[in-house]
Amino acid sequence: MVATIPKAEIHCHIEGAASPELVRHVGARHGIDLSGLFDDTGAFAWHDFTSFLGAYDRASAVFRTPEDYRDLTFTYFSSLAAEGAIYGEVFISSDHALASGLSYRDYVEGLAQGIRDAEAATGIVGRMIATGVRHYGPARILVAAETVVNEPHPLVTGFGVAGDERMHHPRDFADAFRIAGEAGLGLTVHAGEFGGPESVRDALDHLGVSRIGHGVRAIEDPDLVRRIVDEDIVLELCPGSNVALGLYPDIASHPFARLRDAGVRVTVSSDDPPYFGSSIGAEYGWLASDLGLSHADLAEATRTSIEAAFVDAPTRARLLARLEG
Ligand code: ADE
Ligand code: ZN
Repeated sequence: MVATIPKAEIHCHIEGAASPELVRHVGARHGIDLSGLFDDTGAFAWHDFTSFLGAYDRASAVFRTPEDYRDLTFTYFSSLAAEGAIYGEVFISSDHALASGLSYRDYVEGLAQGIRDAEAATGIVGRMIATGVRHYGPARILVAAETVVNEPHPLVTGFGVAGDERMHHPRDFADAFRIAGEAGLGLTVHAGEFGGPESVRDALDHLGVSRIGHGVRAIEDPDLVRRIVDEDIVLELCPGSNVALGLYPDIASHPFARLRDAGVRVTVSSDDPPYFGSSIGAEYGWLASDLGLSHADLAEATRTSIEAAFVDAPTRARLLARLEG
């Protein structure tokens, strides 16, 4: 049933989409020591959110050249298309590029080439959301926002913040979101993943976002759920990620359906798929098998992703038309 549903995902970190095989391959190309990064089965080794973020940073550091990043987006977007996706939006990070010794411009051009090549090969449409990393601190998040505004690129259409939401307060990032918003970028922020409902409320109070990355813990506060509905905020839900990182014991316990039933506009994405044993097809499949979502329910999640996507009006109309056909 799931294979035939047109899909879209709007919450995936491009460095977090690199498979262990690709990381080993690119790491070998550059002679990088990767000892300790993998477990006995060859998967990424991590056991909690902090060690996940550490493994993520180490794996990201193997990507050094525009060609490496081109291969990363081409591989990721081609695999999305192979699972029936028509649209994908990825988080990118100028901080991770700089750590690899690459300028923002070279990084974005490499990523964009892979997106264009994947569209030419499969028809999938892609966009990028520049992010600051919360645990690197507010000063670097401001630099990330200034960088994306000062060096605009047609495929970079959003700005956001990812990383460890247990650190800092959204008001510390308000200037970064203000300048990104004034430049016309779509805005989203990770909240309500490891932070409670108050982290979602603080993000809404201070950052002017139209979407929240995760936001799933809003379910713990009915007033907040009502506010999310009233303000038409879209949640980028990533059930497989939430289970892998221990927020919920299994998909059957995930509040995806409860949030949707309360009137929240929900979408489904894979976050960092190889770390969590996930993919966009797997996420749709789990929602069908473990939460009983129907074909129509899942098609509605795809439609919401396209409606909330950070794209120009003609592109959105073209994507919505593909859902009809
Ligand atoms: N960066 C990559 N994946 C993330 C996640 N699930 N939460 C916060 N920051 C991230
Ligand atoms: Zn994320």
